[in-house]
Amino acid sequence: MKVTVVGAGNVGATCANVLAHRDFLQEVVLLDIKEGTAEGKALDSWQQAPIDYYSTRISGVTNDYERTAGSDVVVITSGLPRKPGMSRDDLINTNANIVKSVTENISQYSPDAIIIVVSNPLDVMTYCAYLTAGKDSSKVFGMAGILDTARYRAFLAEEIGCSPKDIQAILMGGHGDTMVPLPRYTTVSGIPVTELVAPDKLEAIIQRTKVGGGEIVNLLGTSAWYAPGAAAAQMVEAILKDEKRIFPCCAWLSGQYGLKDIYLGVPVILGKNGIEKIIELQLNQNETELLKSSADHVKEVMDVLDNMKVVA
Ligand code: LMR
Repeated sequence: MKVTVVGAGNVGATCANVLAHRDFLQEVVLLDIKEGTAEGKALDSWQQAPIDYYSTRISGVTNDYERTAGSDVVVITSGLPRKPGMSRDDLINTNANIVKSVTENISQYSPDAIIIVVSNPLDVMTYCAYLTAGKDSSKVFGMAGILDTARYRAFLAEEIGCSPKDIQAILMGGHGDTMVPLPRYTTVSGIPVTELVAPDKLEAIIQRTKVGGGEIVNLLGTSAWYAPGAAAAQMVEAILKDEKRIFPCCAWLSGQYGLKDIYLGVPVILGKNGIEKIIELQLNQNETELLKSSADHVKEVMDVLDNMKVVA
């Protein structure tokens, strides 16, 4: 099995490195437009193999899509990260053209590949890749929910004083400040989170989760990479091992949750066919309203992309 990660910045390089550590792939190709970057990071990762005991061959190329041919899954991390003071949506002008051109190249050399988008603004860049690739939406989707849920789970574990392994949670909506963490669907080894965390503390954690990406941007001056890279790798693994894992992913909705023609974070089953099922939860009125307002925001940014006419 072969996976290509496009973009050898921090997120792409981390994703490729995590995939290599999982040791279930024959090959990971890391591609970047900057001469030497992908080659250097891939070589460094390959030299880690004898220490960490993995066999996955990881190699780097500069813009040579021929070397990515026949990939089963392609992860797109290309584009600029945001800087302090910016929202993810501010990246649309730069990143739309990049994501479009990457998707065209991928489609030429790996026409059957499943595409996972990580570039921001996430929901709209996933839409951009979907329009460009012209393939079934079950094969084009975005990574955000695993990351956002991981932040939520990490904050909860800290508050409760338990292992993050024991927090199960789901979160929906766009990958932005309107995302919708769902305490009603959050448990700690089966115990409802509301029995372990006081309402005010829970609300503070939800608010911190919503701006979790921005918290790191403010600390680092650029965006996060360990958790985003690992989250994308977890999706690749679920697909190629046909694990049928349930994750929140950015998926194309065609009527689910009363929403249509929009990419939005929802729980899905991931397996060898990509998104094999979108799970529809029985949301209450408040949750439905929050999801709708998140969808309205994403739709506005999708309209911006449509008006830019990047994708004919
Ligand atoms: C994240 O959530 O870490 C990414 O979407 C990057 C960002 O700009 O926040």
